[in-house]
Amino acid sequence: MQIVILKNSAEVAEYGANIFIKQLQSKADSVLGLATGSTPVALYQGLIAAMKSEKISFKNVTTFNLDEYLGLADTHPQSYRYFMNEQLFDHVDINKANTHVPPGDAENPIEACVGYEEQIKSAGGIDIQLLGIGRNGHIGFNEPSSGLMSRTRVKTLTKATIDDNARFFAEGEYQPHLSITMGIGTILDAKKVVLLATGENKADAILATVEGALRASCPASALQLHTNAVLVIDEAAASKLS
Ligand code: F6R
Repeated sequence: MQIVILKNSAEVAEYGANIFIKQLQSKADSVLGLATGSTPVALYQGLIAAMKSEKISFKNVTTFNLDEYLGLADTHPQSYRYFMNEQLFDHVDINKANTHVPPGDAENPIEACVGYEEQIKSAGGIDIQLLGIGRNGHIGFNEPSSGLMSRTRVKTLTKATIDDNARFFAEGEYQPHLSITMGIGTILDAKKVVLLATGENKADAILATVEGALRASCPASALQLHTNAVLVIDEAAASKLS
């Protein structure tokens, strides 16, 4: 696992964006694995700027998002599909038919999970997977206790994650407790993995990921098994590393 420690979140976003820019410059039809949450927003802005200055194009790109709330249609403002449209897809030259987010309103979520794995496979697999990390060490919605070889499936969110994400929901608004998420095995199949983390509240999770044992109670520790994983983190997130 390669670890890049930078001063602040702006430098992390710029460094992360450059990894994706280089990826698209060397393979215009890349298959990107994408994430939501606060952390990747500035990276997406970097990619939008790079497209506008014609450094990259998304015309031949395919994307697969990590996760989605189960029970939210893709038109719901808190759905991850809605987030991706707003933060990236609506601002770049991507063919939306080539963008995939697990279907939060699937009639048969279990079948939908199998279908998502098949779609990733038939796209040729993920070239580069972007990740954030939860305070509890989750990646995607693979909460602590997730199987390290797990595939895309329905996963119950922990109270810590529900509390962390409550900031995105209005008071009294329905907040799902279930999700569809790529599994840890699915993530580990990506050819390259880039995890971004910023801020002191991620320091314990980064410590467990980098220096802890490989264990299901810190799902991100599974990245120790990946031969091409890079953690791009700021000094605050790195502050507990020895
Ligand atoms: C989002 C996702 C989550 C987030 C994590 C960190 O698609 O998969 O694992 O990356 O919860 O979220 P932020 O960036 O909001 O701290």
